[in-house]
Amino acid sequence: MSKFIVPITEPNIGKKDVINLMKVLYSGNLIQGTKVAELEKLMCQYFGVNYAVLVSSGTSALHLALLSISIGPGDDVITTPYSFIATANAIKLTGANVVFADTCKDGVNICSSSLESKITPQTKAILIVHEFGISVDFDEIEKISLKYNIPILEDSACAMGSEHRGTKLGTAGKLSCFSFHPRKIITCGEGGLIITNDRYLAEYVISMRNHGLTINPISGEKKYIRYGFNYRMTDLSASLIIGQLHRIGSIINKRSAIAKKYFNEINNSNITFPAYPSNSLFNFQTFPILLKNRNAANLFITHMQEQGIEVTRPAQFIPQEPSFEVGMLNSKENYPNAFNLWERCVAIPLFGRMSKKQIKYVIDRINSYE
Ligand SMILES: Cc1ncc(COP(=O)(O)O)c(C=O)c1O
Repeated sequence: MSKFIVPITEPNIGKKDVINLMKVLYSGNLIQGTKVAELEKLMCQYFGVNYAVLVSSGTSALHLALLSISIGPGDDVITTPYSFIATANAIKLTGANVVFADTCKDGVNICSSSLESKITPQTKAILIVHEFGISVDFDEIEKISLKYNIPILEDSACAMGSEHRGTKLGTAGKLSCFSFHPRKIITCGEGGLIITNDRYLAEYVISMRNHGLTINPISGEKKYIRYGFNYRMTDLSASLIIGQLHRIGSIINKRSAIAKKYFNEINNSNITFPAYPSNSLFNFQTFPILLKNRNAANLFITHMQEQGIEVTRPAQFIPQEPSFEVGMLNSKENYPNAFNLWERCVAIPLFGRMSKKQIKYVIDRINSYE
């Protein structure tokens, strides 16, 4: 039980999901097996892609995706400074350098002109993040990718179910990675997914999630041909996701209805909303609001928490985290938009099972906040 009257999120797991989980428990197969294979098929159908590979987390998905395109020591990968730290950590784990490009002035995502200014001969990939399930300016970034012949990888951890120009987010890059962490639209606790249309890359990540194993499709002979990881998802986790994937449309509709209410009814001159791109459908994985400055955001968080409403800073300004700070002096000046966003941005509760009473309570508390 949450200690909050309104927690920031609550998983959308129902009785049927629990029954599916119990069936796997009683089957005796607690590792990767038929449920993972079933869910991979469903994910291919859902996204309309050739390959879907389930893994143990969004972070392991990112790590494998980067390795699959041979990112390693001496390479630069450009990404956003405003994300969950896993985005940048995954790059670091390959031995490559993280190069940050600033976010746009009004939105929450990487700015294409800043991104282009960071490209050098060492740049080997662009890792975009659809932060909070909100699409990056993909058209501009794709032009840059084509101009310099640099592949795009997508950190779509937050973006399952969002769309841009009628296309599901996560289907445009060379590989795209999703997370099933409890803050995400559908969850199994810890879990991740990589999607791609490239057979070679799919085979690589399938092998690397399981210690470098390959299985000869004709003879069935098993060989460990590279050093890999245990990044497997279990059938227990897959069984929880299957039901949620079947009802993802209704999960997102419920979230959208709450977001609409927030947009229409939050009315406080201390609070604004970040810019959202047009021609998009949002999953409202997070509902971000902007306070006037860092101090105002801190006071707001403390006040709302005292009222029993779980309000948090939803992402990090990664360059100032201790693990990244070395060599990143002047980080605030170098990425002023991202720093400003981090100072001002807080997330308020939004989840499908929010009761009318909880929604009203959040709106009333925010509107009466001075
Ligand atoms: C943008 C982003 N990237 C990567 C991750 C890492 O996913 P996981 O926690 O499943 O490893 C998360 C969240 O958890 C995230 O929000």
